Amino acid sequence: MDLNMYCHALPKVELHAHLNGSLSIRTLKKLYELQNPDGLENLEFKDVNSLKESFEEFKLAHSLTNSPKAIYIAACDVIQEFAEENVIYLELRSTPREVEGLMTKDEYTEAIIKAIKTCETKCSIIVKYLVSVDRRHGLQVAEENIDLAIELQKKYPKYVVGLDLSGDPTEGDVFLNLLEKSRDAGLRIAAHCAEVPNEVEIMDILNFRPERLGHCVCIHPSLNGSHKLFQRLLELKIPVELCLSSNVKTKSVPTYSHHQFKYLYKVGHPICICTDDKGVFRTTLSKEFELVASHFDLKNTDLKEICKLSVKYSFATDEEKKCLLQIIKNFN
Ligand code: IMP
Ligand code: ZN
Repeated sequence: MDLNMYCHALPKVELHAHLNGSLSIRTLKKLYELQNPDGLENLEFKDVNSLKESFEEFKLAHSLTNSPKAIYIAACDVIQEFAEENVIYLELRSTPREVEGLMTKDEYTEAIIKAIKTCETKCSIIVKYLVSVDRRHGLQVAEENIDLAIELQKKYPKYVVGLDLSGDPTEGDVFLNLLEKSRDAGLRIAAHCAEVPNEVEIMDILNFRPERLGHCVCIHPSLNGSHKLFQRLLELKIPVELCLSSNVKTKSVPTYSHHQFKYLYKVGHPICICTDDKGVFRTTLSKEFELVASHFDLKNTDLKEICKLSVKYSFATDEEKKCLLQIIKNFN
């Protein structure tokens, strides 16, 4: 089997996917038609070349996912697309959003849960929801979303398992005190970390010890980090969600071969491979595995091992982890 086929067929685990960044062009067109039944299609799809441009791209998706029906369609499509490329476990994260007159935050999150329930019966995939807190939206909104996440977890403990700290890393704050409250309530925390250089903030996030970290670009000394930060990350052994296309396309790292994967993998630090925003970065999880294999000379058995370890770092239950591991072990 060639690398492309192997990466597609491999039963994979996706731990870092933002709903509105994961919408395919097909889904965006479908949502546009829902909003403009008689209108001519007037959509422009640009390639992203910087972190700022990636945040501009979310605006298009957000303008089209402005009702519970649109969120439901979006979530169903994203889950189905991951399932079609043999993702057997998906943690989908999304920021609860209200749209005046059209949707409340409760309706937003209920639409995601409904989509997860629909897809779990139709597709062979386990899906969890991480409620996102956008650092740009300020303290009050963060508190509101954390309270909502705690309530949702009580109502849907099978599906709502964690909190994601995300948003434009050049703006806002990281609300670590508030996150403590969700941790006390049993929610696991996945925090975006070190997307841009900021030694103090990065050290604060590391010392908070989230269950997982996203990106961790500016930690290694060769990528605008420092020995101190890199040593601290290694010491804490927190699994890092690595998203190669996202980091290269936003120019957070200069090329694939410069990616922090090489430093973390070499020393055996826990990592998993993820897409971040498969729509915005025009990728798939299979492609991300191919990129890792081709740029860092990994064998099929190494890729399979990464999938097994990703199960360990996931927020699935012990029983689910056992089943997932069995599926991966049985794959040849
Ligand atoms: P949503 O939460 O489903 O609306 O997905 C889009 C949102 O995810 C964006 O508005 C950002 O807040 C967040 N996001 C997506 N990609 C990134 C990233 O690379 N860094 C930080 N935040 C991100
Ligand atoms: Zn992200």
